[in-house]
Amino acid sequence: MSTLFSARDVTVKFGGLVAVDALSFDISEGTITGLIGPNGSGKTTFFNAVTGLCRLAGGSISIGGQDISGLLSREVYGKGITRTFQRSRLCLSLSVFDNVMIGRQNGLPFGLLDNLVRRRRFRKELVGHHHRVAGLLNTFSESLAQRIFEPLHSLNMIDRRRIEVCRALIAEPKLLLLDEPSAGMTPDETQEFMDDILKVRANNPRMSIIIIEHEMELMQRVAEHCIVLNHGRKVSEGTFDDVVSDPWVQEAYLGEA
Ligand SMILES: Nc1ncnc2c1ncn2[C@@H]1O[C@H](COP(=O)(O)OP(=O)(O)OP(=O)(O)O)[C@@H](O)[C@H]1O
Ligand SMILES: [Mg+2]
Repeated sequence: MSTLFSARDVTVKFGGLVAVDALSFDISEGTITGLIGPNGSGKTTFFNAVTGLCRLAGGSISIGGQDISGLLSREVYGKGITRTFQRSRLCLSLSVFDNVMIGRQNGLPFGLLDNLVRRRRFRKELVGHHHRVAGLLNTFSESLAQRIFEPLHSLNMIDRRRIEVCRALIAEPKLLLLDEPSAGMTPDETQEFMDDILKVRANNPRMSIIIIEHEMELMQRVAEHCIVLNHGRKVSEGTFDDVVSDPWVQEAYLGEA
């Protein structure tokens, strides 16, 4: 399997605090990697560093062999990396369709003029986008696809999370970053959401995913490769079974001897 993404000695500092400390790892095409670590261990900061939301104090990041260190968020998006956020960024009063379409950061290829004088072209484009968004929603369930024009506030927690994933998928990324997608879900919802991730993967076999998750059962089920952080440093890496049998992880993270 070819390497899609590489982090080399990635370092992020906030004043005197080293939030990500010389972190290096590779991601192969079409794989799911789990990023594990206690609160404050630098997981979200790493995603922010990849997506141009915070500056690197050192190191480099590349995708498809191209260096993307220091690029702006929209440039990183253009290189095929999209993400969800730990704290939801959905617009509750907008429709499901609009919330997903926000993920097309390039906007719509038509404007007011097209709407007024090029109505056929406008309509064709819109129908195309409708099909695409409905197709993404259908990955999760037919009933969700039927709610495409309903306001987001009418959806429950798990469906809202699915919409966030669709928003990240509409750009057809090469690498999808998921920041604690199951946070706040009930155990049953978490189970359902695991299946969702596996469906997303089945529909996009070449796309790679990095998932941050505290829910170890979910990690065990979906992640082929795991990386464990503590105080911004990589303390363990390998399969789920490798990392959970690591004495450091057992003692410090799982709280077991
Ligand atoms: N913008 C910021 N300014 C200053 N310090 C920050 C900033 N963002 C994060 N930090 C600090 O960096 C460290 C890593 O935080 P980060 O949010 O990346 O952790 P995390 O592993 O995602 O934790 P959690 O599991 O709670 O989401 C923490 O000590 C945090 O307080
Ligand atoms: Mg976080």
